[in-house]
Amino acid sequence: MSCEDCVSRREFLGKTTLAVAGAAALAAGCGDGQFGPTTLVASTDTALSVKVASVPALATVGQLVRVGPASAYVAVKRTGAASFAAIRVICTHEGCETNIQASNIFVCPCHNSRYDSDGKVTKQPDGGGSATNLPTIAAKYDAATDTLTIG
Ligand code: FES
Repeated sequence: MSCEDCVSRREFLGKTTLAVAGAAALAAGCGDGQFGPTTLVASTDTALSVKVASVPALATVGQLVRVGPASAYVAVKRTGAASFAAIRVICTHEGCETNIQASNIFVCPCHNSRYDSDGKVTKQPDGGGSATNLPTIAAKYDAATDTLTIG
């Protein structure tokens, strides 16, 4: 029986080893073995309305507060008696969801970028690359109804 297209055992093992080595090199990726974000949050442009009195933490000027559904929350900060700022929480490096720390900063769990309470970058990601400031979102407060509309 002839087998012109057959691969010898040695050729097969050689090709398989190359494929495995290639996959391992890809898995190493950017050095941390991680491909992009581990925690993605769906972006949304849908306006979000919040009764400010229903979120007690929003009574404190300067405190970052998570507002909105878990899958698409934003950070909100009271900036004055009747003014608020809203900031997207998705890291601008590779899109991971940042965490709001008790010290009112954003920390990205993926490569450790840090942002101040205004969303400005204070530390670039570990391992290279760069992050830019977190985007702000329009936040309009209606004192008559105590309603904050974001987006
Ligand atoms: S995704 Fe890399 S630091 Fe945030």
